[in-house]
Amino acid sequence: MKQYRDDFHLPTGHYLLSHSVGRVLKSAAEDFHQQFMVPWQQQNQEPWQQWLSGIDRFTSALASLLHTDARLFCPQTNLSSGLTKWTMSLPESGIRKVRVLMSEQDFPSMGFALQNALDNIEIVYIPEAMNMHDLSVWQQYIDEQIDWVFVSHVYSNSGQQAPVADIISLANQYGCRSIIDIAQSLSVLPINLSEWGADCVIGSCVKWSCGGPGAGFIWVNEDVLPYCEPKDVGWFSHQNPFEFDIHHFALSESALRFWGGTPSVAPYIYAGHSLGYFAELGIEQVRAYNFALLSELQAALPEFYRSPTAQSACSGTAILHFGSRHEAVMEQLKRAGIAVDNRRYGIRVSPHIYNSQEDIAQLVQVINES
Ligand SMILES: Cc1ncc(COP(=O)(O)O)c(C=O)c1O
Repeated sequence: MKQYRDDFHLPTGHYLLSHSVGRVLKSAAEDFHQQFMVPWQQQNQEPWQQWLSGIDRFTSALASLLHTDARLFCPQTNLSSGLTKWTMSLPESGIRKVRVLMSEQDFPSMGFALQNALDNIEIVYIPEAMNMHDLSVWQQYIDEQIDWVFVSHVYSNSGQQAPVADIISLANQYGCRSIIDIAQSLSVLPINLSEWGADCVIGSCVKWSCGGPGAGFIWVNEDVLPYCEPKDVGWFSHQNPFEFDIHHFALSESALRFWGGTPSVAPYIYAGHSLGYFAELGIEQVRAYNFALLSELQAALPEFYRSPTAQSACSGTAILHFGSRHEAVMEQLKRAGIAVDNRRYGIRVSPHIYNSQEDIAQLVQVINES
């Protein structure tokens, strides 16, 4: 998509690492200057009003992308901190043992956060080798013994997509809470949080959203929100941050109860700008283009393809392994300026709207000639 390619800074070479860090928009620096620097540099007032409107722009863009209400989002530094705050806020936490189901394929930091957030927690792991796209695997593990289910919408090492909506409805049947990690799916797979009806969703903007690091968030179901009492709070978690009465703390009625002390602003200005870009573009279009390039890759190199191929099962990322030639191929890719990375099951290749058929053709050629 030539017209979108021109919107991003793309260095020489072939960049296929959007599962790690998405490219920065060419318009981001000027937007940041206007939203963050100008109010600070030029007015004889503190710039908080403009800075906080940058946070509103961030939560509104998320709401538009994810089809939900902006007041259900709260900025967080990253997914790990959002998950810890959520875990500690629930009425059952600290009162009784909580049994959580997650996968060995989840991002390790999610396990670290859960293992350490509560004293009385037991984690049941779905073994690494299981197919996380297969609902019957989830049916095998979710029962009345499980209190919370943690699901990654996308598993970044295997390129599998979890059937999130079905898992949530299964969890609901057993009275389990559901927590969904959308780190690897935001801005590449269409998501409708109102339809999902999860208890909690955590994500960040550094990957496919091209919004840089530091702009994470938590989304909380509006029926669950009134029961959440975060432990890590500050004046921005207050119903009225400017009340300034040390003897009176009242939690915000919105998800901002998860906020804390004086917030950071800059990462949310960058991220709000790029989320707005993707909201306007439409994620259906991003996914259609991504899937078309994935399909070309799969058609050219079926013997090396390790990730699922069906659109409902695959993520935005293809996983390829070259058997005994794996190390040698990686070396050739590096020499040819093709930026991919390597994980447990193979190299990860993530075509975004700024990639071209030429990027895929070059990748295929180098692999075939290695
Ligand atoms: C599925 C998934 N979850 C979470 C994260 C990152 O978590 P955090 O924002 O806490 O660093 C990643 C990062 O690669 C990821 O792939």
